[in-house]
Amino acid sequence: MLDLRDRFATPPPPAVELRAFTHGLMPRTVPAMMQAFCDDWAERGVDAWNRVPDRWDLGTDVGWWSLPEALGDRWLAPLLGAEPGTCILQPNVHWTVQCLLSCDEPFEGAGGAGRTEVVLTDAEFPSVRHSVQRWAGLRDVRPVEVAAGADGFVDVDAVCDAVTDRTAWVVVSHVGFATGEVLTDDALRRIADAAHRHGALFAIDGYHATASVVVDAAALGADVYFGGLLKEACGSTGNAYLWVHPGLDLRPRLAGWLADADPFAFADAPADHPEVRRRFLAGTTAVASMYHAVEGLRVLLGEGIAAVRADTLAKGARAIERAEALGLGVRSPREAERRGAMLVLEVEHADRLAAWLKSQDVYADSRKGRVLRLAPFVWNPPADVDRAFDAVDEALRTGAHMEYEAPAEGGPVT
Ligand SMILES: Cc1ncc(COP(=O)(O)O)c(C=O)c1O
Repeated sequence: MLDLRDRFATPPPPAVELRAFTHGLMPRTVPAMMQAFCDDWAERGVDAWNRVPDRWDLGTDVGWWSLPEALGDRWLAPLLGAEPGTCILQPNVHWTVQCLLSCDEPFEGAGGAGRTEVVLTDAEFPSVRHSVQRWAGLRDVRPVEVAAGADGFVDVDAVCDAVTDRTAWVVVSHVGFATGEVLTDDALRRIADAAHRHGALFAIDGYHATASVVVDAAALGADVYFGGLLKEACGSTGNAYLWVHPGLDLRPRLAGWLADADPFAFADAPADHPEVRRRFLAGTTAVASMYHAVEGLRVLLGEGIAAVRADTLAKGARAIERAEALGLGVRSPREAERRGAMLVLEVEHADRLAAWLKSQDVYADSRKGRVLRLAPFVWNPPADVDRAFDAVDEALRTGAHMEYEAPAEGGPVT
């Protein structure tokens, strides 16, 4: 098992941080990178847009202008089994989804028939689900939401069956944000086949798979794969990404001037950039966030994503063993193949339990007072799992959490 405490700003022992699925811990190299941003800005000013020192092991000349694709080639492509020229940094998934839905090509259909449907599950994150719903009022789009199966997990057959010749896009999450369910490579390929049989495009939201599950986007049958670096990938905010299958010619209408073929011509009309990935840029890129974007990947790719995956599975297995010994229901999948880093446990008064655990320096979270969520990750030594469950055990035995008044912290994040 991995114990990468030294590589991340972990809370001082004996505290146990188990919330990688919300916001990954800060890699210890980040302060130096933020200082590098200040240095580059201070020393180079405007010229930093054309050239800055290579702080990202790119092995190429880079300036702020070309950082989104340079980081895509150097750090995202290896993560997604992708070729150079196909990945680009994005500000967040929401933006990427807007851009994708603004492309005419997937809606055009063979013979000008027109496609109107977007097939997705009802478990997609709001950046996808709500966006598709909102676009239904903007262009001729009809969301086709597929409900979970009786077991609460994605009903892959139903997703495949929902695809028709009217389908423009099929969108699913690689790892469910609420369930922790990993869709297996076979399941994803079946959905891809169904999409492609009907001439639709297949998009995967890989947010929670990013840097915690081994991904080969093309082998999964995806046409586009997007996600973000905030969580398990430990890249913090402002850092999402998009991969576009080589040869797929998408032309987002929402493209900004940074996506233009000749931005400094300030022409009367926009022109699509020849590189498809670059067409997904908007207005001026937020550069500072790119200085911390890949510091988590530096650590996790350095270990190898297969090793990260094996580590989360081993620690997760121990957590499930302890949870079951306490009589807790496990709502996330048990089989290793379908289990992500996040475990979802059924506990009465989970909100009180999470608040009490926090008072004991064990950081998990709860949803709707009914489930406790936790993810032993690479910075947790194996003993953290036992410390966390010893605390859960104590609470359940003594009822300490039922008496506990959580201090009002005042923020909306849960
Ligand atoms: C599956 C999934 N997609 C996307 C996001 C985030 O989207 P955005 O970058 O628009 O905030 C999350 C955040 O929790 C997520 O879990």
